[in-house]
Amino acid sequence: MYKNMRKKIEKIEKEALIQIEKIVNEEELQNLKAKYLGRKGLLTQLLKSIPKVPLKYRPEAGKSANLLKRKLEQELRSRHDLLRKKKEKERLKIDITMPGIHQELGSIHPVTQTMRQISQIFMNLGFKVVDGPEIETDYYNFTALNIPEGHPSRETFHTFYLDNGKLLRSQTSPVQIRVMEKEKPPLKIVAPGKVFRPDATDASHSFMFHQIEGLAVDKNITFADLKGTLSVFVREMFGQETQMRFRPHFFPFTEPSAEIDISCIICAGSGCRVCSFKGWLEILGAGLVDPNVFSAVKYDSELWRGFAFGMGVERIAMLKYGITDIRLFFENDVRFLKQF
Ligand code: DAH
Repeated sequence: MYKNMRKKIEKIEKEALIQIEKIVNEEELQNLKAKYLGRKGLLTQLLKSIPKVPLKYRPEAGKSANLLKRKLEQELRSRHDLLRKKKEKERLKIDITMPGIHQELGSIHPVTQTMRQISQIFMNLGFKVVDGPEIETDYYNFTALNIPEGHPSRETFHTFYLDNGKLLRSQTSPVQIRVMEKEKPPLKIVAPGKVFRPDATDASHSFMFHQIEGLAVDKNITFADLKGTLSVFVREMFGQETQMRFRPHFFPFTEPSAEIDISCIICAGSGCRVCSFKGWLEILGAGLVDPNVFSAVKYDSELWRGFAFGMGVERIAMLKYGITDIRLFFENDVRFLKQF
């Protein structure tokens, strides 16, 4: 009986060692492991039969079966290491004479560049850059900004409405409200970001474009502060000799409001195609914060004054770089993008 057992153990050992020697991949290794050491493996079965060996031979049989188990485990492990090392070596076999894979270097998108440049000018003046959501509520995009029910900008042909009652912000002005709700005055912020309008696409319109909003709130802010701030911006952005003019305008969230023009940077004001022979280019809207906007955020409008402004980033970039079609920004044609 014991002889029989010993023979079995020897047979398993001999066969297993030969097979382990031949293993060439991880899959074969796992299969062999299962064949001998798995739950129904040959060696496992044998170990299970030890209790049936006559008492006299049992310790001896148990010992050699267990020794074999350990040996096989060890053999499988070193085989595994060997396979791993071989694979690693294969991987490191590099042909250094092979031509490399050429990687085109990307660059910052001109709209992002312009947005950063504008933000930087205002940061130098002490403004903080903040962010707001692109999906907005009616309240932030309109109501809190003193835009009444029935105002044309609320119509579906001026604003994208979502099924859940929210909308895609049509201006960055709602960020003004979000900032004032969270922070106490005084504050100075700019908020760059995407805005959306259901306009038919043409050379100067896109259903998505970028704006930068500005807001300053402090105790003694006057129109002169707005004018001083914007004139620094205009000169930094378009050149020191650039002229600026304020045209009276209306915005619900500012009172008084103005549209700001700069002297045409192409013809310096003498009149050309770009400025439609007017000598001036409109670049932004601005004004002093309307007291109704302060009420919406529970700021005391007897105590606090503010100015706000908003500008289109693509328009600024188009003027600065002489780009005549807004669609170029969004077509991802590298021949265009490469130039910035
Ligand atoms: N939100 C305005 C627009 O999209 C731009 C604007 C005008 C923003 C005047 C302002 C402002 O903050 O004071 O046309």
